[in-house]
Amino acid sequence: MTNYNDIYQQSINDPDTFWSNAAEELNWIKKWDKVIDHDAKPVPRWFTGGQINTCYNAVDRHVESGRADQTAIIYDSPITNQQRKISYRELQEQVSLFSGVLSSHGAKKGDRVIIYMPMIPEAAIAMLACARLGAIHSVVFGGFAANELATRIDDAKPDIIISTSCGIEPARIIEYKPLLDAAIDQAKHKVSCCILKARPQAKAEMKEGRDFDWDSELDNAQSTDCVPLDATDPLYILYTSGTTGEPKGVIRDNGGHAVAMHWSMKNIYNVEPGDVYWAASDVGWVVGHSYIVYAPLLKGCTTIMYEGKPVGTPDPGAFWRVISEHKVKVLFTAPTAFRAIKKEDPDGEYLEKYDLSCMQSLFLAGERCDPDTLFWARDKLNKPVIDHWWQTETGWAIASNPLGIENMEIKAGSPTVAMPGYDVQILSEEGDEMPTGEMGNIVIKLPMPPSCLPSLWGNDQRFIDAYLTKYEGYYLTGDAGYKDEDNYLWIMSRTDDVINVAGHRLSTGAMEEVLSGHSDIAECAVIGVADDLKGQMPLGLIVLKAGVDRDETDIVKELVQRVRDQIGPVAAFKQAKVVQRLPKTRSGKILRGTMVNIANGTKWKMPATIDDPVILDEITEALQILGYAKS
Ligand code: COA
Ligand code: AMP
Repeated sequence: MTNYNDIYQQSINDPDTFWSNAAEELNWIKKWDKVIDHDAKPVPRWFTGGQINTCYNAVDRHVESGRADQTAIIYDSPITNQQRKISYRELQEQVSLFSGVLSSHGAKKGDRVIIYMPMIPEAAIAMLACARLGAIHSVVFGGFAANELATRIDDAKPDIIISTSCGIEPARIIEYKPLLDAAIDQAKHKVSCCILKARPQAKAEMKEGRDFDWDSELDNAQSTDCVPLDATDPLYILYTSGTTGEPKGVIRDNGGHAVAMHWSMKNIYNVEPGDVYWAASDVGWVVGHSYIVYAPLLKGCTTIMYEGKPVGTPDPGAFWRVISEHKVKVLFTAPTAFRAIKKEDPDGEYLEKYDLSCMQSLFLAGERCDPDTLFWARDKLNKPVIDHWWQTETGWAIASNPLGIENMEIKAGSPTVAMPGYDVQILSEEGDEMPTGEMGNIVIKLPMPPSCLPSLWGNDQRFIDAYLTKYEGYYLTGDAGYKDEDNYLWIMSRTDDVINVAGHRLSTGAMEEVLSGHSDIAECAVIGVADDLKGQMPLGLIVLKAGVDRDETDIVKELVQRVRDQIGPVAAFKQAKVVQRLPKTRSGKILRGTMVNIANGTKWKMPATIDDPVILDEITEALQILGYAKS
């Protein structure tokens, strides 16, 4: 079968054959009893009865099958002027020694380990070392504040945290240790062991008896072997933003995840073992888990860990330099990175300086790809530019143009078609399938394919309530959109309070919780307004408590700092405006969607249920002062 339609139909009609064929490509310690266990709760599970080790498949098996000397990881850090190549043999040595370190501190199968690290190879080594032992890692993005780290410590209850002395942003050094110490102090769950990779740019103050130095620990470590794990054992927990300030701990299993990751590399990205694959993201996000670490290594590719930005490190030619220098075949990043490059180098002059003949294609995800960005990238690169749609919850593309199967027609603004195993439907509020071309809630009929989340960490009920209850037998994606006459999917917006800022998924609800904590605030709404560079930017509309007559500029400054301190700089919360009232429905629901439309200057209808339409004039005025709501 060499066309998309046949392959997709087989995956839906006969998932057992489809996914067992894909699974045969990996090394199993024990073969599965059932490809899919339909009786498992809360959702069907993949490869039950099977035993596998993800680290073995990503590292050891390549050493054993002739790839020992091939580069597994290229660390390219324009921010520190450093490069390092790690072969599969070296990676095996480092990972097995570091899992020895973890074991010596008591880590074993099922224990949680938090990894709070920037884009250095030790982050990937730590992840793989956990996978080797069956310890469940939870990587926390470096741009989050101590408070967010503390929330994750209390939810995951790790015994060990792996971190570093610092991360490096273009304009500043981020000292991780004070953030880590603050998070540990703040968390109710007590962590007994921290292992820190010292970087020369900052010194970490070590706490005797609790903090250990990565390098000294490795010097004394015994290497350890891969532990047999059930296919359904968790590999990792990755927290993502939901509607409230409580992040959701998405669980990823070992077996299904490895199978889907491996399958996707050839069939979606069209890469072979030995190819160089680069996901310019961060290990703290799902793209980093799936396509910096696990999928490229499971496939025997060379992966790149890039510690830099698309622009400013040192110029908008940074991506082209990496591609040509390391012979990258596929680049995967977020549209926002291309918007940043386009803004600084609209004519692509930096592109001319590099030979990009090695590059086969560009994949974009993380946010809707606006057609302008897609056309610009395609015209400048003269390669296929593929928008694909997925979520932390799935771990891989729900919709894409599967280049390794068939290069389908590209329609700008659509991530093309559903990937194998995903029965994607568009439903009305009442649960009826929407006619072609009409918007509705995007759902996936159960069972979802391998790798998709089996639950939320320690909270089956939240998983059921958030994803499975609205439509029985379907997973609710939280996105709205439609299917066209060719079955192409169009992903238009979120249906919840999640916004996408520079490809980063953030919760406006979480920001509202932080703003509400300020003693002068009576109530507030945070909305995501359109931004040329970052896609969306958060904006706060705040109502002050009666009697507060402080200067608005001071209050806004304090609010901006609060969000930075409590959520982190990555929230990019920089603008807020005091208003007298917020627009609400008669039942008291804040009309955030209407305010977003007013801010963006898009067409909007007066909501029939609005309590007092006059408030919208005042909101429009406030938004205009901030430079929005231009008709
Ligand atoms: N650790 C600490 N702080 C971080 C951080 C990290 N790992 N990553 C970002 N930040 C900080 C930034 O320094 C910035 O701080 P500032 O407010 O003091 O300037 C803030 O968080 C916002 O960062 P970001 O949204 O990245 O904006 P930026 O202006 O620094 O850069 C882009 C804009 C478009 C260049 C950048 O967002 C980018 O490269 N995006 C690629 C998208 C991506 O990788 N998405 C992942 C999913 S595929
Ligand atoms: P995350 O979990 O951080 O990967 O964010 C997932 C969300 O980002 C999705 O639910 C979408 O809202 C949005 N998203 C990701 N990729 C795309 C895309 N290609 N097109 C439209 N929206 C996307």
